[in-house]
Amino acid sequence: MKTMLNVALPKGRLGEKVYAMFEKAGFECPSIKEQNRKLIFENEAAGVRYFWVKPSDVPIYVERGAADIGVAGKDILLEYNPDIYELLDLNMGKCKMAVAAKKDFRYNSQKTLKVATKFANIAQNYYTSCGRDIDIIKLNGSIEIAPILGLSDVIVDIVETGTTLKENNLEVIETVVPISARLIANKTAFKFKAAAIEKLKCELEAQVEAAK
Ligand code: PRP
Repeated sequence: MKTMLNVALPKGRLGEKVYAMFEKAGFECPSIKEQNRKLIFENEAAGVRYFWVKPSDVPIYVERGAADIGVAGKDILLEYNPDIYELLDLNMGKCKMAVAAKKDFRYNSQKTLKVATKFANIAQNYYTSCGRDIDIIKLNGSIEIAPILGLSDVIVDIVETGTTLKENNLEVIETVVPISARLIANKTAFKFKAAAIEKLKCELEAQVEAAK
């Protein structure tokens, strides 16, 4: 029987681009293109089964073995530090994690810095490495509002085009880390489905190099 690779794809535009790469790599699954609300698609002949999952959940499926491999942003991997293998930088979904603030913002060493973010661990690690004490305000979205309303001094968030910051009169003051999408694998699956995972990885690597 053919090995079935279970793949967790991040729902959305990035996931669609990733699927196109997997398809080109020989792991096609035509039914995934049907416009419906299904979340699982499989093509037994090609040995692949895809799941559409919330992007931030991809490492959970992979770490626990519900998926053998998946694609997740480096931001999610840094924040949750899942016990998985990171196999390849797909060089897509590129953006950066940055500190941003209102245009007139100045650090005040006398006061604990208030930092609003969805990425509490990344923010904490960053400011620890700078030797600065901070007070984290964990939010779940629309982070840019926090400094405007005085809820925080700065934010630590994803910046892609910079439009959201600009339209809210904020600016990047420091870059924390560049981000891109990564191919990740479950540690056990990486042993037992080595041939299939290795084949996929090599094919994707060739595509990434060709696109550079
Ligand atoms: C992300 C991020 C920024 C925005 C950056 O938010 O948190 O708000 O995208 O993109 P830009 O630099 O191209 O403007 P997302 O759309 O994921 O929504 P959220 O605010 O709910 O996190």
